[in-house]
Amino acid sequence: MNNYLKVKDIKNLKEVVKEAIDLKDNPIKFKNLGKNKTLMLLFFNPSLRTRLSTQKAAINLGMDVVVMNFSKDSWALEFEDGTIMNGTKSEHIKEAAKVIAQYCDIIAVRAFASLTDKEKDEADIVIQSFKKYAGIPVVNMESATSHPLQALADAITIEEQKKVNKPKVVLSWAPHPKALPHAVANSFVEIMQLQNANFVITHPEGYELDKKITKNTTIEYNQKEAFENADFVYVKNWSSHTDYGKVLNVDTNWTITKDKMNLTNNAKFMHCLPVRRNVVVADEVIDSKNSIVIEQANNRTYAAQIVLKKILDNY
Ligand code: CP
Repeated sequence: MNNYLKVKDIKNLKEVVKEAIDLKDNPIKFKNLGKNKTLMLLFFNPSLRTRLSTQKAAINLGMDVVVMNFSKDSWALEFEDGTIMNGTKSEHIKEAAKVIAQYCDIIAVRAFASLTDKEKDEADIVIQSFKKYAGIPVVNMESATSHPLQALADAITIEEQKKVNKPKVVLSWAPHPKALPHAVANSFVEIMQLQNANFVITHPEGYELDKKITKNTTIEYNQKEAFENADFVYVKNWSSHTDYGKVLNVDTNWTITKDKMNLTNNAKFMHCLPVRRNVVVADEVIDSKNSIVIEQANNRTYAAQIVLKKILDNY
């Protein structure tokens, strides 16, 4: 693997998921692989899980890690070509990426969607610019359109927890007071399309994800019908893609409650976290024995570790 920007960068998902699960038996088995190699983590947005699990993954591989809160501590970057830089941006990505690449072996970047400019967000300009100018491997820690490390952790979690060969997996929209990006949902859809699963998306009308991503995935607008016989319920809010970045409704009828989970086949509850309790999901669901959000977050380490290992193997 040269870069990990999208789910499709994993060539054999089944094998990679298995290798990640195997890592859990002995996380420091490849402790020498990353010796004298440095991972640079650049955050344009906040993080808890991605930051800590990716650091831990690199440490397990023997790497050194440098972290920078880019939006707070560095110069504001210009990404447009040919701009007259007489505004607030002090440094161009062309220099910044090449400079950073001299200090490390792999760059990982988190840069959320603006949710104001659909065209620019869909061009994924920050992560794509790092890939273009750095000249070393780049890992996506959530970009404007994708969160592939989260999706890989989700696939690992489903593989570990499934009781049937082809589980029914439901991705459900849930309400949220703020406009949230589409990245987690997009990457979950992309990884589920590669899995042996009966995969259904449910959301209110107007919350359709990018059709280039959902393709022919089943969309069920009736959440209760979607939940029938589900083995996994994966919950996430996202803002409208059609009416880009807008919160169209905060209908609490879409909150995940015990009554709705009772419609399922004793489904496991999943969420990438952070989650707003009693808005997105009722306490009684997230605190229940069917909630696997903590196990899911734990798998972030092994998802990041297998990705870093694949990149180091190729170095
Ligand atoms: N799920 C996830 O990416 O969590 P953080 O935003 O805390 O990194």
